[in-house]
Amino acid sequence: MKEIEITLKVNGEDFRVEVDPRTSLLRLLRERLGLTGTRQGCGRGDCGSCTVLVDDRPVLSCIMFAFQADGKSVTTIEGVAKGDRLSRLQELFVERGAIQCGYCTPAMILVGESLLRRNPSPTREEIRRAISGVLCRCTGYEKIVDAIEEASTEEGRR
Ligand code: FES
Ligand code: FES
Repeated sequence: MKEIEITLKVNGEDFRVEVDPRTSLLRLLRERLGLTGTRQGCGRGDCGSCTVLVDDRPVLSCIMFAFQADGKSVTTIEGVAKGDRLSRLQELFVERGAIQCGYCTPAMILVGESLLRRNPSPTREEIRRAISGVLCRCTGYEKIVDAIEEASTEEGRR
């Protein structure tokens, strides 16, 4: 199939790439741009582990075509830390034990960062709703909710 040229920003860097129209955003990120922090789970929109932010909103990159990101800004987990410095939310995931196997973690962090940007003081119910599209088989979710809730407090933002 004829390739399409697209331009997009990924983690603040501009890219111009040719993609097969059937290529998913997930494959573009992992296989062409080498950003393997985005997990491939079910590959069909069920588990949420492939979540990235497109124009600051969480999307499932396994069921979004790469060409649909044309002209947009994509954030992956590689774009959250500033150099060697983890974001406060990343630190809190570690400190609060919100990471076990880590498979869901990139998606959970991105969903949490996006939520806190839109709603700096979410309730626990709003946090639960925001992360509801990402499955975690390890933590029972409570520590993830704790970490996001704490990141929303003055102390968490320091
Ligand atoms: S890998 Fe995309 S939703 Fe499971
Ligand atoms: S920490 Fe293992 S799936 Fe969430």
